[in-house]
Order: sequence, then C-alpha cells, then structure tokens
Amino acid sequence: MSVETVQETLQQAAQQSAASGGGFSPLLTGLVGTLVVLALYEYWHRSSREYRMVANIPMPPTLPLLGQAHLAAGLSNAEILSVGLGYLNKYGETMKAWLGNVLLVFLTNPSDIELILSGHQHLTKAEEYRYFKPWFGDGLLISNGHHWRHHRKMIAPTFHQSILKSFVPTFVDHSKMVVERMRKEAGKPFDVHDYMSQTTVDILLSTAMGVKKLPEGNKSFEYAQAVVDMCDIIHKRQVKLLYRLDSIYKFTKLREKGDKMMSIILGMTSKVVKDRKENFQADTRAIVEEVEETPKQRPAATKEGLRDDLDDIDENDVGAKRRLALLDAMVEMAKNPEIEWNEKDIIDEVNTIMFEGHDTTSAGSSFTLCMLGIHKDIQERVYAEQKAIFGENMLRDCTFADTMEMKYLERVILETLRLYPPVPLIARRLDHDVKLASGPYMVPKGTTVVVLQYCVHRRADIYPNPTKFDPDNFLPERMANRHYYSFIPFSAGPRSCVGRKYAMLKLKVLLSTIIRNYIVHSTETEADFKLQADIILKLENGFNVSLEPRKHQVVA
Ligand code: HEM
Repeated sequence: MSVETVQETLQQAAQQSAASGGGFSPLLTGLVGTLVVLALYEYWHRSSREYRMVANIPMPPTLPLLGQAHLAAGLSNAEILSVGLGYLNKYGETMKAWLGNVLLVFLTNPSDIELILSGHQHLTKAEEYRYFKPWFGDGLLISNGHHWRHHRKMIAPTFHQSILKSFVPTFVDHSKMVVERMRKEAGKPFDVHDYMSQTTVDILLSTAMGVKKLPEGNKSFEYAQAVVDMCDIIHKRQVKLLYRLDSIYKFTKLREKGDKMMSIILGMTSKVVKDRKENFQADTRAIVEEVEETPKQRPAATKEGLRDDLDDIDENDVGAKRRLALLDAMVEMAKNPEIEWNEKDIIDEVNTIMFEGHDTTSAGSSFTLCMLGIHKDIQERVYAEQKAIFGENMLRDCTFADTMEMKYLERVILETLRLYPPVPLIARRLDHDVKLASGPYMVPKGTTVVVLQYCVHRRADIYPNPTKFDPDNFLPERMANRHYYSFIPFSAGPRSCVGRKYAMLKLKVLLSTIIRNYIVHSTETEADFKLQADIILKLENGFNVSLEPRKHQVVA
C-alpha cells in the first residue's frame, strides 16, 4: 500500500467519522487497530533475542516491518546484484539485512566462511532453497540431515576418477561437434553461451546419464533455456518479499510461466530416466579396475583444509572395484532391496545433477572464452601450451594424460572462476549460534548466512589488484600463501560440489578443443559486462565473442 493510499483512506475514514456525528467509523477503527497490531509486532520483533544479538552488525537503510525488502523492489536481477555489492562496499566485510522478519547475514571474510563451511556443524541449507523443491525434490543440493548424508555417500563414488577418465572420449566427441556447429558463426559476434549450454546438456546426458541417443531437434537447448528462465523465477521468489508468499505467488503470471518451464524440464528428465531403465545393462557399462593395494600418497598441493570426500574416494580405494556412472548406479541401487533407494530418489538426483552439472559449466566455459577474447596475450600462452602438448598433430583427440599437462589452461579456468564464480553465493541456515572471527559479532541460530564467493574472490587484501585477470594468481607458490577459504567457487567442506573434478576435466577438454580450432576475439572489455546473479552468474548483455578459424585446422 503506498503512502498516498494510506493518506486517502485515513481522510475517507475521518470524513465518514465526521458524517456520523463524530463517533468511530468501522473503517477508522479497523485502521487504527491494524496500525496498533503492526506497531506491537515491530516492538516485539525489535526486542527479540535475535534482533538484539545482531544489533552491532552493519546494515543498509531499514524500514519498519519491511527491513531492507524495499531495496529490491522494482529492480531487475542485474540491478539487485549491483545495488547489493554497493552496500557491501559501503558497510564492510560483514553485513546484515532483514527481509521482513527473516534475518540474513552476509559473509566475505575467509575465516568466518571457514566457520560455516568446514566441519559438520552447519550443513543445513537455508530456507531460500525451498523454492527449488518442486524441481529437485530431495536431491543432493537442497536436502538435509540423514537423507543428504546417505545420498552424498552413494553418489560421490559415481564421480570417481576412473569413471571420469572413461568420459574423456565423450567429452572430446561433443567438443568436436560444438566446434563444427559454431563454424557458421565464424567472423561475426555471437552469444557463445547458447552453444555452451546446449553442449553441456548433451555432455551430461551422454556421460552421467548414459544416454545413447540424444533428444532430437532443439530439445537440449529448449531444456537449457527453460532452466535459465526457471532460475530467474526462483531468484525473484528469493529476493522479492511478495513472491516469497505462496498464497500470493500462486495467483501471479510468474507462476504460470514457472509451470510451463517446469513441464519442459521435468518432461526431459523423466524421459531420460525411463529410457535408461528400459535399456539397463549395467554389466556391459561397468568399469572394473584393480586398484593398487596401498592407498596413494596425498598430492602435496592438496591442502588439508580443502580436502573433501572426492579426494578420499580417489586416494583411499584398494582392491578390485566395479564402478557405474551416475544413472546406472542409481538404477542398480533401486533394484537392490538392501539399499535404501527408490524411484523418486532417482528422479530427484537426475533433476539436481542435470541442473547443477550443465548451467554452471556453460557459464564457466562462456566466461573463460570471453576472457580469452579480451586478453589476447593470455590466449597466446594457452595456445602455446596446447602446441607444446599436441605438437604437429594439433587436431588429434585430447586424452586424460593431455589434460594433466594443461597447467596454464587450468590456471586460466581457475582465474575465471575467481572473478566470475558461476555460483556467486551459497546460503546455510545456522543450527547453532556462531561467534564470527571478523568482529565482535554473534549470529543467532536460525539465521540465513550468505557466503559471498564473488566478494571473497575480489578482496584486495588477498588478491593484490583484485579485478585484474591474472592466471598466475594460481601459481602453486601464490596459492600456498592464501587462506584456504579465499577461493571457493565449488564451495568447500563436506557439502562442497560433488561434480568439481568432472567440471574441471570437462572444461579442459572443451576449451582445449575450441582453442586449437579457433582464435577467439572480443570487441568488449570487462567494463562492458552486465553481471546478473539469478542463481547462476551470467551476463545480461550476452557472452559476445567472435571466432576466427585457425588456418589449415579442420576437426578430423
Ligand atoms: C564450474 C562448474 C561448477 C561450479 C562452479 C559448481 C559450484 C558448486 C557449488 C558452489 C556448490 C555448493 C552449492 C550450495 O551449497 O548452495 C555445488 C554443489 C553441487 N554441485 Fe556443483 N558446480 C559445478 C559443476 C558441477 C557439476 C559438473 C556437477 C555434476 C555433474 C555438480 C553437481 C553438484 C551437486 C550435486 C551439488 C550439491 C552437493 C551437496 O550438497 O552435497 N556441480 N556446486
């Protein structure tokens, strides 16, 4: 209700009251009653334990009842990000905001972030993830407690290194296909994200989901577009007070659009599961390997603080192992009466991983190509490294061993993920009060704590000249001197990204294939980027590059 409407209603009520000879009109009584209730509510809220506890944490300008909710009103997703970052710059490394009575505390100090992400104390996902529920059900990304622990334990091994190695030829095939598809764009600017999103959907279908025949026509692209639109809707629901309320949201146009997107998304994933179940032949697909008897030595570069279950799985296996890729493993688990796993578990995880596994890497690969187009000297170093690896045979297929040699390309990818982390923030609900390390702050149990990777990665005290694109930030000696939690594009700790190694391997194969076939150009600079953070970080104005085929080099 606007101030004008309130004034008009009060005047109307006063006139009614005068007309009725000065007695109380029902409208005036109702209004005064509502104001008294709201004032009492605000008084109660301000005297609550949590309100008093965080009183010393800075916050942007606030309004009674709304808190800071009005600051997002009427803004686009891109504007919300830039306004939010402006406030963080102004108020310092730790800030709070109230969305009505929901308390959010934003963290950008690595020591604070370590308190939240490391260990098993604060594993519960924030309430804001509930808008994903109709999509992911109880999938890994949003589930909690025993369900999450059980699923994590069963799913992490399906990303074992031996499975990933077996995916490399498929990564190569799809990379060559997208190189061919992009040939029609050569010489003119285009949005490379359109190509990266389709190809990352196809790669996921062919690897983790084991699909042999990809959906016909434009289906993968249509799915990828529906995911982008759905993320936009979910983001709006997270930040706009009125959309948060189911009772209001269900009558909006946004919900109608959301329903349409969900039917495209769920239509695709349920077909994938159905096909896989009908063609289930686990034994012909299983990877059987004899793992050495003694656990491998931990690589020196792996810092203890950043170790996760994926490292343990790769390093501590001994004996003969039979392994299956994700969807095959889940279908087999559902058939095994001794394992707690059912049809819904399969669907939930397919939906979760189809989303997490494609949109993140399509943003990551698109940002990297833009950075290579803008920073030609760095692109030349990447190409020189590729020449050193592939020699005279620049068009041969890339192998797993080749990817191990791509140290500079790896630094370029990591530096891109530093400046443009595809998941720019994550949120947890505190299960206990926490004393922060960044100041004399206590954050109460129940608070939504928002970890802002985007901001941590741009701290000047950690990365001198923080906005400069400098892949050498990831030289081992520089990394050794930084706080573990100052680079967390894949999150960290027990709830870190289960697809981290898959993502890095796929990005290397894809980018190596593109860069051996094309010179990437860009007429833009980073100053032209209009970032928008609707769940996954993107460019509102498109990932615009142009491609020049490298001479005499056509994909074999
Ligand atoms: C550059 C690529 C990627 C980035 C930057 C990324 C980043 C992240 C981050 C930050 C989280 C934690 C999210 C949160 O706590 O809210 C996460 C979780 C997750 N990611 Fe990724 N991810 C990437 C690729 C992938 C891929 C390729 C897959 C699967 C194939 C995947 C599957 C998952 C899953 C299942 C989770 C939930 C893990 C759990 O809660 O136990 N991600 N990812």
